[in-house]
Amino acid sequence: MADIQTSASDKKEKEYFTHLPQEAPGFFLKGSHQYDWGLKNRLSRVFNPKDGRTVMLAFDHGYFQGPTTGLERVDQTILPLEPYADCLMLTRGIQRSVIPASTTKAIALRASGGTSMISPMEEWEGELDGKKLKLSRPGFEPLSNESTALTIEEAIRLNASILAVQVFVGSAYERQSLKNMTDLVDAASRYGIGVMGVVAVGRAMARNAQYFRLATRIMAELGANVVKCYYLEEGFDTITSCCPVPIVIAGGKKLPELDALKMCFNAINEGANGVDMGRNIFQSDAPVAMMRAVQGVVHGGLNPKKAFEMYNDLKSDKKKAKK
Ligand code: 5RP
Repeated sequence: MADIQTSASDKKEKEYFTHLPQEAPGFFLKGSHQYDWGLKNRLSRVFNPKDGRTVMLAFDHGYFQGPTTGLERVDQTILPLEPYADCLMLTRGIQRSVIPASTTKAIALRASGGTSMISPMEEWEGELDGKKLKLSRPGFEPLSNESTALTIEEAIRLNASILAVQVFVGSAYERQSLKNMTDLVDAASRYGIGVMGVVAVGRAMARNAQYFRLATRIMAELGANVVKCYYLEEGFDTITSCCPVPIVIAGGKKLPELDALKMCFNAINEGANGVDMGRNIFQSDAPVAMMRAVQGVVHGGLNPKKAFEMYNDLKSDKKKAKK
């Protein structure tokens, strides 16, 4: 009964601010203004509300390729980078075994899998006109034959902000991977958890703007809250422009540091809401310096030249400190 006033002298006058209508502000993140509170809050942990951008550190590669170069010992190579990331993209196995539960970083949890880089190709062997033939079926790429790889209860236990699922548009397993994504969207949206559809590229899938527009838009239409895609020199702005939800870029294969920083800068200028990078950070000669330089581009407004100077300064400071 805390609200019953007992006398006129009782503390402060009530103020109803009747002259000020309650604001109904938009939300800082593209396409996300009509979500429920919990999902908006989780997305605000992944994307910085000050600029709507994110630096996600991706180190989930082991889910299909085992101890990837730079990830042989995640405790040694990734933990020093954790303070500079907005969000950690990882598998549940690494989260439980290596990442301290005291981390305050958002979690992007890998939620699809089930194949490996040595899964057998689908092949046909037989005879035609008396000749022995061995054919592999285009589009039946072993890696694309994924399932969902965790339950929603597990995602809640691990306090995931967003679930990552690979989608193989154009492969023979396109339908299955899209179903993996929509199943996860249905489950995750019940609890206000986001889903990030990851555009997979394979031999049957062209790496061009037309393909990426198609794949990213299909994922957004089918409910992905965020889409992860590769950067392209040609037409990347058309991909971000016709995708109604935020796009973050994967880094791809290791590039020279200046080129990777240019890629981040161009992607942001052409409408990406951030990066979800792995190899270009943890395979760098100076991963912490690279991580901080990427932060400088994404959140600090640095151009690639300035960011590269920062990288070199931090790298040489570390060398000096070692001497
Ligand atoms: C696996 C992924 C990876 O997390 C992502 O592509 C890795 O980033 P990078 O390409 O920067 O190493 O989604 O398919």
